[in-house]
Amino acid sequence: MGQIYFEAGSQQFHIQGENSSYIMHILPSGELGHLYYGKRIEHQADFSQQFAPYNYGMSRDIFPLDDSAALDFVALEYPTYGTSDFRQPAIEVRQCNGSRIVKFVYESHQIEKNKQPIEAMPSAFGTDETVITLTIYLTDAVTKLRLALSYSLFMTGDVITRHAKIENNGVESVQLLRFLSMNIDFDTKAYDMMTFTGSWIRERELEVAPLRRGIQSISSSRGASSATANPFFVLKGHHTTDFHGEAYGFNLMYSGNHVGQVEVTPYDQARVQQGVNYFDFNWELAPNTSFQSPEVAIVYTADGLNDLTQTYHDFYREHMINQYWVKKERPILINNWEATYFDFDETKLLELAKKAKAVGVELFVLDDGWFGHRDSDNSSLGDWYYDPKKLPYGLKHLVDQITDLGLQFGLWIEPEMVSPDSDLYRSHPDWIICVSDRTPTQGRNQYVLDFTNNEVVDTVYEMIAKVIRESGDISYIKWDWNRPLTEIGSLQLPPQKQQEVAHRYVLGLYRFYNHLMNDFPHLLVEGCASGGSRFDGGILAYSPQIWASDDSDAVERLKIQYGTSFCYPLSTIGAHVSASPNHQVHRTTSLKMRGDVAFFGIFGYELDLTMLSEGELTEIAAQITMYKSYRQLIITGDFSRILSPYDSNETAWSVVDKSKTKAIVGYYRTLAPAYKLPTRIKIPQLQPEMIYTLKGTKRTYRGDELMNWGIELNLVLFEELGILGQMSGDHVSLILAFDCITR
Ligand code: DGJ
Repeated sequence: MGQIYFEAGSQQFHIQGENSSYIMHILPSGELGHLYYGKRIEHQADFSQQFAPYNYGMSRDIFPLDDSAALDFVALEYPTYGTSDFRQPAIEVRQCNGSRIVKFVYESHQIEKNKQPIEAMPSAFGTDETVITLTIYLTDAVTKLRLALSYSLFMTGDVITRHAKIENNGVESVQLLRFLSMNIDFDTKAYDMMTFTGSWIRERELEVAPLRRGIQSISSSRGASSATANPFFVLKGHHTTDFHGEAYGFNLMYSGNHVGQVEVTPYDQARVQQGVNYFDFNWELAPNTSFQSPEVAIVYTADGLNDLTQTYHDFYREHMINQYWVKKERPILINNWEATYFDFDETKLLELAKKAKAVGVELFVLDDGWFGHRDSDNSSLGDWYYDPKKLPYGLKHLVDQITDLGLQFGLWIEPEMVSPDSDLYRSHPDWIICVSDRTPTQGRNQYVLDFTNNEVVDTVYEMIAKVIRESGDISYIKWDWNRPLTEIGSLQLPPQKQQEVAHRYVLGLYRFYNHLMNDFPHLLVEGCASGGSRFDGGILAYSPQIWASDDSDAVERLKIQYGTSFCYPLSTIGAHVSASPNHQVHRTTSLKMRGDVAFFGIFGYELDLTMLSEGELTEIAAQITMYKSYRQLIITGDFSRILSPYDSNETAWSVVDKSKTKAIVGYYRTLAPAYKLPTRIKIPQLQPEMIYTLKGTKRTYRGDELMNWGIELNLVLFEELGILGQMSGDHVSLILAFDCITR
């Protein structure tokens, strides 16, 4: 059970989880210093002996008896620039007189059960039993700025969420040039940094590099959390693996421009920071107003990267994702995008739906192209009324027909966008993100709507809500976003607020989502942004699942799903079986491999079922039956990485249920090896003394045998499983399912 201590004598705070300790102290100068973050330490009233100020010849008043110590050598909680700390600050403020100097000193603190939500932004939630929060208040005597640093300790996995709030209690406005969510100073650089960067159809690629002196960072300036850099990174010991060793995770739960950085000094200290990107950011903080940062979720583990992953997965499932959806079995869907693109009519859709129903699909999703006169990506975004050419009897008629078949109905929208060729743009050309004296750049032939303007958000919201209300039974929405923000500016905001636009845009996005969730609390919203360009904790608070990538090729998906699941649970990862040859990379893979990859996510199909043979449809029906019997395990179980697609041509992962009675393992081999011995995989997370049967065979194993010795993937096994013929050549896969027969 976690606790938070404050020791008045030593002026120290100790956030103590079951497995971790986070220790801070108030320096004699009143500033907040950092002492330790790592493996749990028994509480003591005073850890001062661990701390010695360094005398490097600066005259700061940090220590009464030593006026020559510099802040540069002190580990700090929320540093400022300009008073002898020369590293990157967590906050930058400019006063009317041009001064950028602030010094925050301790004022008070409070420790309370549970936590407050962050205004206008999604944040983690808990109960009196599951969370404790420490808030430390600090003030700057000159500007009268008051800073509140919040640390919430979640009992699940010792996750600490942090965010900061600043109030202007002075009489003049100040410019907030940087306001990060967190800062941690480590006294060593002996870590590798793991990042998840990429691009469209290549999202969340894992890169690992040792820390080196200077600043290493990930960031987005695209108006969304982006495919280019997911707001998640890890620092791990050089020898840490998936199964052993120390690691720290940092995950900003925010959907806009962000930065995560580590600055290693010439003295080999490492300063770790994360928050809203300070590039192109400037918030005017008027007297009597406040500003809050988004929240960051920090995890420490001593037990390897799989443990870090499982902690994040549990945290998201218990404290961030809408509890209505989190354990609900999500419907298996058919999406018409890769089946028809823009070329469809009611008859074609119904044919696809009938085939889908026959194989066991549960939800039919009508993608882009149902509205305005949208026969290509050249028009109609913003005109959210059905196209009478494609749907002559109306959208409701189609919804009724589909639901009469026994399928649920889902609809695609892209509410943040407008096409130049649209009624909405023609009547409100000033409603787009732009600057007044430049031609706005088009992306995919469209503009971004100015979501800093509540009138724009509310007008578009009303149009979409009307479609949902009037179309009968729409139970699912796919929310897309297909271009980044450029010429970032708003025609409704004054010049001094133009660098607030990127953040205000995200607040507008959350405003829209809040309306939608309030009015339609049981609507399932799947996030999407050209695939996985906005896959973050902020969106997950509203969209329990996100289309992970427009790349639906099974081989490419191995890396995409591997990278995504490092932080985000399988229950959030939209994964579909699509056509072969694949439409993105033109690779040919078997239906089996495509199914076996998509299986480890929120499963669906996105291909023209009417073009498939009876044999293929029978295989799909079997895949669906199989997924249905494992989907509870997939969305609630413990996921582990076993073999990495970055290390060889083999990938393997597993999911084990919390009671350790059921396990499934996915194994994938992309290119056939020549003359090699069979691969052996060890299956983690089982109960050592339990006996497990391997489905499809007569084999039984003890848990410790599977965990420590493993199972060899050899010809004898394939023969027993009846898949010998499928296991040669390129792009092969298998799923092993284990059931416990004794306790
Ligand atoms: C991008 C999405 O990621 C696709 O799945 C599809 O919905 C298209 N947009 C439609 O324009």
